[in-house]
Amino acid sequence: MLNQKGGCGKTTTAVNLSACLAELGMRVLLVDVDPQGHATLGFGYRADDLPLSLYHALKPGGVSLSRVLQSTYHPNLKLIPANTLLASLQVELVDQEDRERVLSDRLSQISSQFHFVFLDCPPSLNLLTINALVAATDVLIPLQTHYLSLDGMRELFKTVELIRERLNPSLEILGILPTLFDNRTRMNRAMLSTIREYFKGKVFDTIIHASSALSECPMMGQPVIRYAPQTRGSRDYQQLAQELLSLRG
Ligand SMILES: Nc1ncnc2c1ncn2[C@@H]1O[C@H](COP(=O)(O)OP(=O)(O)OP(=O)(O)O)[C@@H](O)[C@H]1O
Ligand SMILES: [Mg+2]
Repeated sequence: MLNQKGGCGKTTTAVNLSACLAELGMRVLLVDVDPQGHATLGFGYRADDLPLSLYHALKPGGVSLSRVLQSTYHPNLKLIPANTLLASLQVELVDQEDRERVLSDRLSQISSQFHFVFLDCPPSLNLLTINALVAATDVLIPLQTHYLSLDGMRELFKTVELIRERLNPSLEILGILPTLFDNRTRMNRAMLSTIREYFKGKVFDTIIHASSALSECPMMGQPVIRYAPQTRGSRDYQQLAQELLSLRG
């Protein structure tokens, strides 16, 4: 999940898509690559109480990722949690050769256990994000259907292109996901058409509507499919899981 813009639905998508795919029988790993630790909170973990987190696996001489794996409410879904410690990693890795590949190297030891591995990026293009882009096969870009959202997309595509040229030639853009869509406002409807016109086949058919159940999930520490399965937000993410399976199943 990549977008340097804050609050566009990266974490909401990472948490809820992971849960919906797990419910469909897929083995899923969600890696919280953000020192904010919001994906970690999304599964009810108190980010600052963690004895082991992504930081402990990525720091020089760190433990293996399998030691950091946490269980969630669903047996098919594992989490690699993060907290503010992760922010210091950029400094600690500064002298390390191949510091862009640390996450990719560590993940390669466990990724074959899963059908899907999701990486929830922070809202910036820093060394953590670069590590995620080197480890990833595909980029999913949540994009709010709001006026200022297109601002920054050029920079985002340029970053992906740069990573592809220099560090990860097989990196692809899987799709752009319209998020926080409110059908009642003309501005939202206009933005959705603009996004579809501009990015054409790269936009998912699924639209994630603004939904109060989705906004309550972080507080409950549960994904929407468990907390409020009959709501619009839950149906939207279930549809996204089906769409992803039809692309990559
Ligand atoms: N479809 C939605 N409907 C209602 N609220 C939403 C929806 N998607 C996200 N939110 C809420 O908007 C806020 C930002 O969402 P989220 O944390 O997923 O964004 P983000 O891109 O991960 O943010 P950051 O860039 O800080 O990591 C959260 O409070 C979340 O609960
Ligand atoms: Mg986030």
